[in-house]
Amino acid sequence: MTTNSAPTTAITHIAQLVTNDPSLGEGPLGLIQDAAVVIDGDRIAWVGESSKAPATDNAVDAAGRAGLPGFVDSHSHLVFSGDRTAEFNARMSGRPYSAGGIRTTVAATRAATDEELHTNVARYLAEALRQGTTTQETKSGYGLTVEDEARALRIAAAHTDEVTFLGAHIVSPDYADDPAGYVDLVTGPMLDACAPHARWVDVFCEKGAFDGDQARAVLTAGKARGLTPRVHANQLGHGPGVQLAVELDAASADHCTHLTAADIDALAGSRTVATLLPGAEFSTRAEWPDARRLLDAGATVALSTDCNPGSSFTSSMPFCIALAVRDMGMTPDEAVWSATEGGARALRRTDVGRITPGARADLVLLDAPSHVHLAYRPGVPLVSAVWHKGVLI
Ligand code: NIG
Ligand code: FE
Repeated sequence: MTTNSAPTTAITHIAQLVTNDPSLGEGPLGLIQDAAVVIDGDRIAWVGESSKAPATDNAVDAAGRAGLPGFVDSHSHLVFSGDRTAEFNARMSGRPYSAGGIRTTVAATRAATDEELHTNVARYLAEALRQGTTTQETKSGYGLTVEDEARALRIAAAHTDEVTFLGAHIVSPDYADDPAGYVDLVTGPMLDACAPHARWVDVFCEKGAFDGDQARAVLTAGKARGLTPRVHANQLGHGPGVQLAVELDAASADHCTHLTAADIDALAGSRTVATLLPGAEFSTRAEWPDARRLLDAGATVALSTDCNPGSSFTSSMPFCIALAVRDMGMTPDEAVWSATEGGARALRRTDVGRITPGARADLVLLDAPSHVHLAYRPGVPLVSAVWHKGVLI
């Protein structure tokens, strides 16, 4: 099968393949046993049973390993400098997590050179890719001046297409006595400088960060400049974040740790994805979000790392899958769907998160006979091969 100049590759004898396309295989994961996938350039050209695979230029024998789409990590904060080991140590000795720790990273990030920040982003993206993440969203939010936020977004955009403006992470320390003035800055000059470099606008809607009215002002101003909202909502306590996300048709409400029945109903009745970030609950010893309640109500759930130096310093989607299964009431199938197709929905993407003809050729092989092993064998580096945009890493 040679359709154009790029050589085609067949990956055959995949013990069990998650396609996330129910029309291609069994159940919601569209599972195919003894499957093959044909890659043509950066796209998937064919998916089916190994015995029926068309002839290709190259062949790779998966030799009984399981396959799944590359992970779609729809929430991270990778443009930062510095380290918060001391804060983590203090927390593990009993100190609670608070939004205030962000200020430590703001100071270190402002002091860093562009080159240092590029190196950091590249390092964590490479780390994530080795663990199977082939789509990575990332945010600003550790600059909190017009120049530092725009710089963070320019740096993020050099490494990924999924870039989020989070100037409203906390009130800048420079505006400690004038939070309203900071919201004016974010919704005015900062957005003017930042919107050209981003696809999304986010706000940390929480006690200690921004209240419902301030969050609405930020998201509405972002929308007016062509950005689509996503919201850090209901992480540390109950609050208006989730309802606001649904009201503004945000792509995603992230964290969703403290939800009322009305919050769950609102998410279930909307296309706003509930993105759960179990690394944050793990690293802050907080109570787990209840994925079961959301799923049973009919909400769409995504899983993501929230990778950041404060509340969740992991880039590992397999780790998040294992936590979601053990502690949040998800089945292994649900968790794998949420870490792939769920993340794609949270980013409103249809070209990633699934292995279907025409999708981007992002595929992971596991040193295991099925995707369930991601939860069954926690902490084990099972990811044995990663194709990203058709290229074997
Ligand atoms: O998603 N919640 C707000 N922002 C990050 C934490 C950032 C930090 O502590 O540095 C989060 O958990
Ligand atoms: Fe976050």
